Amino acid sequence: MNSLRPLLLLLFFLPKAQAQEWFYPELKALAAPDLAPFDFGVASGDPLPDAVVIWTKLYLDSKLPELVKWEMASDSAMQNLVQTGEEYTYGTSAFTVKVDVKNLEPGTTYFYRFKHKDKYSPIGRTKTASQNSDQLRLAVVSCADYQGGYYNAFGHIAKQQNLDAVLHLGDYIYEYGVWRNGRKRMMKHRYREHIPDKNCTELMDYRTRYGQYRLDPQLRECHRLHPFIVIWDDHEVANNDYVNGAESGTANWEARKAAAKQAYFEWMPIRENPERRIVRSFSFGKLAELWMLDGRLEGRSKQANGPNDPALNDPNRHMLGTEQTDWLLNGMKNTQARWKIVGNQVVFSQLNDSKVFDRRPSVRMDRWDGYPAERQHIFDFIYKNDLKNIVVVTGDVHTSWAFDLTGNPADPNVYDCKTGKGVVGAEFVTPSITSFNFDEVVPKIVASEAKRRFKKKKNNPHLRYLDLVHHGYLLLTLTPEKAQSDWYFVKRKDRVDDRVRLCASRHILFNGNKVEK
Ligand SMILES: [Fe+2]
Repeated sequence: MNSLRPLLLLLFFLPKAQAQEWFYPELKALAAPDLAPFDFGVASGDPLPDAVVIWTKLYLDSKLPELVKWEMASDSAMQNLVQTGEEYTYGTSAFTVKVDVKNLEPGTTYFYRFKHKDKYSPIGRTKTASQNSDQLRLAVVSCADYQGGYYNAFGHIAKQQNLDAVLHLGDYIYEYGVWRNGRKRMMKHRYREHIPDKNCTELMDYRTRYGQYRLDPQLRECHRLHPFIVIWDDHEVANNDYVNGAESGTANWEARKAAAKQAYFEWMPIRENPERRIVRSFSFGKLAELWMLDGRLEGRSKQANGPNDPALNDPNRHMLGTEQTDWLLNGMKNTQARWKIVGNQVVFSQLNDSKVFDRRPSVRMDRWDGYPAERQHIFDFIYKNDLKNIVVVTGDVHTSWAFDLTGNPADPNVYDCKTGKGVVGAEFVTPSITSFNFDEVVPKIVASEAKRRFKKKKNNPHLRYLDLVHHGYLLLTLTPEKAQSDWYFVKRKDRVDDRVRLCASRHILFNGNKVEK
């Protein structure tokens, strides 16, 4: 009896692992039984020259550790296996399986799948980072509010051939419950309803929310076919968040943040690290280096109260924090790569919106315009070290923009929009996948008037492209000579629809000094 006691004790203390304990029961209605237990599909991410992370999650009731086998092959029929392995997954991670597959060849397409008991997962496709390619193609996305519509943009990206990766710049999920009391115009554009119907604050809330998003067939297919490189913005935890709180306040903040981070690392094909940090860089040989930033939870100070808040220009207020800023700047200074790509959450360029958002300075205070001292420090370093060929890609604003990247567009001593004086690269902003944009909040006529005011030379001389009313994504193509952004817009998002068109393109030449058509 004595020898059985530890086992009996263990069984007693094991969590009563019903799936309902990881997820709200309503999620079951969206499940994909034909894929079970791999209802959430497969995913890959964080491609290095010799490694890539592969991911899946079992959707099942179990009280015990579950054994999952995996295999990676060089062919889609899974005949030429290059690596295999197995590992246990546990209820403590809601049965997440994440494997960092190493010793791979650079710039190579691989196929992978998982097996649990006698069931196979769908076969995923992924690609390691190329080191000697003369082309890099990255789909850039952000802001995919499930309630705002169907993921036709993800469906289109899934079908893109020769993509190297999908960069997700955040707002992968939204933390809100079902919108009920919004403006009439916004309510008209609520096409689906969130589960659970409450603001996410605890681990099971966030897990369920990711589960709901991942049961969307178009997003699941996009993950199956391309590696993702992800960073969070605010809605992965709470609106307008910063290190010590969010718009909703600071109550239970540390516990909420920890739960949200845990769910993020369970669901995203991001490389594990003990601190659950998302700041990291990727090399694509001599062509490009990519820095993925955390402008939320790494070093961000609380937003200022408005343009007249004396704290606004305080040099001790940060978006990235000193450590992350130094890492970025030294990385950009020392890289041998031609293009310096920065994956960033909120609009980096100076944006004069005073004629549009007079009564809503909080919009501005959450962008880099709300952290002018740290941005100026970055530009000072860039000019001092004569850095060029920087491409910042950004999400967050649900609209599409291109800017000449410059230290001060309003100062003719720094910038000249005609000659390109003072331009060190470009900022390209991706629209939302589904989250509401201008004409879903205000009447169309107000949206077109806003566009006119934004585009006035006197307001924003460095603005090279603007669209306020479409959804979709941007495709960033880098060659040794050129960095080009192509904006793809979906026809509709009120139902599944595969019509997507290329609507605009802008580029900057290597060592060029302005964004051009
Ligand atoms: Fe967003």
